[in-house]
Amino acid sequence: MIVSLIGYRGCGKSSLAPLIADRLNWQAVDSDRLIEEQAGCTIADIFNDHGEAEFRKREAEILEQLYAEDQIVIATGGGAILNSQTCELMRQSGPVFWLSAPTEELIRRLTQDSSTTNTRPALTDLKFEEEIRTVLKRRIPVYQAVSDFEVLTMNRKITDLAEEILQQIQGWTPKMRTAVKEHTS
Ligand code: S3P
Repeated sequence: MIVSLIGYRGCGKSSLAPLIADRLNWQAVDSDRLIEEQAGCTIADIFNDHGEAEFRKREAEILEQLYAEDQIVIATGGGAILNSQTCELMRQSGPVFWLSAPTEELIRRLTQDSSTTNTRPALTDLKFEEEIRTVLKRRIPVYQAVSDFEVLTMNRKITDLAEEILQQIQGWTPKMRTAVKEHTS
């Protein structure tokens, strides 16, 4: 089984994955970091030099390799759910957790994170806040459709979030899914 964490930039996927993995005695994997390791450069460089489409291709390839593994917690990139095949692999492999937060909260977190400008390439030609509002609005239905559980992250301690996710994982089976969700992007 593989546990997937999905959600917009700044929702806490990369911080939470190791906490959950440690408790399960599994490995935590951050797909963005793997892409950077394989490319020998940053994600921002890949966007700059080759464009977003090339990044998405590499992202889908890395995730396909990861979903062939077992007992890992994957912190996916915020846009990984844009690929329907990735979503299928994710859902076939185990429970999918959407780490959600109100738009204003995500704007606040991303503004406060000083590394944002260097590490998070623009996804549109829109201004910073407008981009978050626009992209998030488009993606929320997809995060919702692909995930088995929504985890509200606002004003919650990271250790409590890990605990909530661990409880959901215990005894989880695909049969718990009440309906087959379709990828709706
Ligand atoms: C992206 C999110 C980033 C990274 C890339 C694109 C997106 O990952 O994959 O910059 O499209 O939302 P994080 O969500 O880990 O920041």
